[in-house]
Amino acid sequence: MSSLYNVAKGKEFEEAPDYAKTNAAVMRLMAFAKDYKPVDIGLGAPNYAPLDFMKEAFINVAMSPDYHVHQYGRSESLTHLDDEWIVFVPHWEHYAAMIKMAGAKVKEVLLRPKKDKYSSGDSPSSSDWTFDRKELSEAFTEKTKGILLNNPNNPTGKVFDREELTFIADLVKKWDAIALVDEVYEWLVYDRNEHIRFATLLGMFDRTITVGAASKAFSVTGWRVGWAYGPAYLMNFMKKSIYGATGDNVTPSQVAMATGLERVWADRNQANSYLVEYPKTLGIKRDRIVEALCKAGFVPHVPQSGFFLMADWTGIKSLPRYLVNNATLANRDVEFVKYMVKEVGLEVYSGSPYFGEKHQTVGRDFVRVCFVKRDNTLDKAMDILEKL
Ligand SMILES: Cc1ncc(COP(=O)(O)O)c(C=O)c1O
Repeated sequence: MSSLYNVAKGKEFEEAPDYAKTNAAVMRLMAFAKDYKPVDIGLGAPNYAPLDFMKEAFINVAMSPDYHVHQYGRSESLTHLDDEWIVFVPHWEHYAAMIKMAGAKVKEVLLRPKKDKYSSGDSPSSSDWTFDRKELSEAFTEKTKGILLNNPNNPTGKVFDREELTFIADLVKKWDAIALVDEVYEWLVYDRNEHIRFATLLGMFDRTITVGAASKAFSVTGWRVGWAYGPAYLMNFMKKSIYGATGDNVTPSQVAMATGLERVWADRNQANSYLVEYPKTLGIKRDRIVEALCKAGFVPHVPQSGFFLMADWTGIKSLPRYLVNNATLANRDVEFVKYMVKEVGLEVYSGSPYFGEKHQTVGRDFVRVCFVKRDNTLDKAMDILEKL
């Protein structure tokens, strides 16, 4: 029996099941970094406290004698053995494992970064990460159960535009498939970018389950709660699965989240409402880290949304010899991250675990940076980057 991470030994890593290999890579780096205590702009969660109104909501519900609500569910019940699920890479590292644990097959379609932009001096953006229309069309077959679409995307911050979404929706209809759409970053959209809910496209509500998360909407990572909506026939599968698999979720988190949702929804049309102000605050953090990364020789791909950005590290001038001419070094992104943690004192995450099985090499030029951090963490990160 293989185990994923040996807690007793602290550092050693035993054979992980196939479906957990990419998660394993991220966990191994986290364990490695623990010994060096670097400034952490890698871990994908805010390091500041939740909003006051969310803390209050949690305390109120925890102290209330009377609460019981329904739960949000999981995707396993939607699929059968040998069904195929299409997923864009790079993606949140858990997707492939989730699909495989449900017994289905993963079909990866690459979102390609536009490398040629670098030379013209333009700052690349997450919007440049696009898919090949032919490749996506060919990924759909009789066996396709659905597409697992993350929009806005972690790790790139890409917000799919209407033309891209319509193209995907037409294929979903053509192949009589369904869409599981993870829109957990929908409220964290910067500049003038627009997030379009997939379920609002013509004919899509009946084929789509949409998922949201309190962790992203309210910076309450660890509450492990979110919401899902869609047509009754799809939601029924989810309900059955949640009762059968986890039984229940953390009820106080659910009630506190619902209170938060009601509050921000009621305030949404006010000029300085949370939904307007929070993305602005995060946009400032993003811009600070983008500037610092550029000065240090990274090429950050400016994210339109979310907590993260991808930065190409391969052009940094001060790299040690073994990382220069790195094209032949198999795990070069991992080696680079180790160097950053050990020698530089700054933790970022290697890119390849987000690129699934087929496209690891594209990911090796990148690191993922999380900019949703306290300002003093960003200050420290910027000082370190300046000296790189
Ligand atoms: C794309 C995506 N979906 C879902 C989640 C899950 O969020 P949580 O478990 O915090 O509710 C995350 C968390 O990082 C994510 O990035």
